[in-house]
Amino acid sequence: MTHLRCSVSHCGTTLDLHDRALACPQCGNLLEVAIEPPGAEPRVLKQTWLERRMSADPRDVSGVWRFRELLPDSYGPQGVVTLGEGNVPLVRGQKTAAWAGLRNLSFKHLGWNPTGSFKDLGMTAGMTEAKFVGATAVACASTGNTAASLAAYAARAGVTGRVYLPAGQASVNKLAQALDFGAELVEIEGSFDDALNVLLEKADPSLYFLNSINPFRIEGQKTAMFELLEQLGWRVPDYLVVPGGNLGNSSAFGKAFIELKTYGFIEKVPRIIIVQASGANPLARMWTSGAQELEAVAQPETAATAIRIGNPRSWKKALQGVRFTGGRVMDVTDEEIGEAKTLIGRDGIGCEPASATTLAGLRKLVDSGEIDRDAEIVAILTGHALKDTDYIVKSRKR
Ligand code: F0G
Repeated sequence: MTHLRCSVSHCGTTLDLHDRALACPQCGNLLEVAIEPPGAEPRVLKQTWLERRMSADPRDVSGVWRFRELLPDSYGPQGVVTLGEGNVPLVRGQKTAAWAGLRNLSFKHLGWNPTGSFKDLGMTAGMTEAKFVGATAVACASTGNTAASLAAYAARAGVTGRVYLPAGQASVNKLAQALDFGAELVEIEGSFDDALNVLLEKADPSLYFLNSINPFRIEGQKTAMFELLEQLGWRVPDYLVVPGGNLGNSSAFGKAFIELKTYGFIEKVPRIIIVQASGANPLARMWTSGAQELEAVAQPETAATAIRIGNPRSWKKALQGVRFTGGRVMDVTDEEIGEAKTLIGRDGIGCEPASATTLAGLRKLVDSGEIDRDAEIVAILTGHALKDTDYIVKSRKR
């Protein structure tokens, strides 16, 4: 049976799938969903997933629930809270590829989801579980995108949504979305990390908690990799590049590749490269120094406000994926992010600043010779260009 287990394998603790715990009761580490081997052959499932794109079942219309054989799936067609998330294209880089010195670069734009960020992939899974366990109010701390996504899916589920934001630090566009979808806003003095602490320590424990430490969020987000490989005809790229903030998304992608490889869907895995902003780079520092434990950055600072995070909760899970795939962690400056973002705009794609860490990181790795010009690369864009219009208008004036 699919169940929850401690994400640190040597701990061995397991819990019922629908236990609402967020941390292992034995060792305090994060939990994860243990997915059973699927009942059908990979070849058959790949075909089933593709054929579902022609179906009108709400689970098949969703680019998340289409892959339900590798998800916790006790909900039925009427049980899922969905806005038709996923199913976003893979777009080839043109000027961006030339700028980074690459011949084979594509962007998977998860910002082209219902609320404009990858969070929707996790939120459909998290909100579906919240509804299943009978939650009437849900909450998250957020730099903005999780808040917008939670607000929309809470509205669809008919539950109260409450979002904790660092005062004055989330983009006004994201704030506006949360308001538009009817969420209650709580502004906290300090950073995202402070907002998360307040939520974890002081909020009403009956609230269902929907940050990415919720293991169901990770399940939804991992499907982006199933969809990506499907779009590539199950050819595995050499590198997968992803921005790192609280490190839920990179954890989700690592889990996807571990499961796909273990269950025989693919024979090799792409190297996961996590790129952080240099002012909010605790995992990159840890990687460079070879330290065994993460040291939080007390005052994270970057113009890419989505990833202004000093104490990422999912760092251990994220590292598992990086190590499994032979990848690496790095950082880029705000200036490098700004240049890369401009280029992504000139390719007619657009993204928010945090997403541009990927292209900025790639350029550095090609320059240093670590990545070959002919390597096949997929960069993940996490948020839509309209998520942070102030940033764009201000850069024009600079
Ligand atoms: N890119 C964007 C646009 C984001 O909004 C975030 C995180 C990330 C990248 C980093 O992803 O945290 O999984 O490593 N935004 C969160 C939020 C923290 O509250 O919206 P991560």
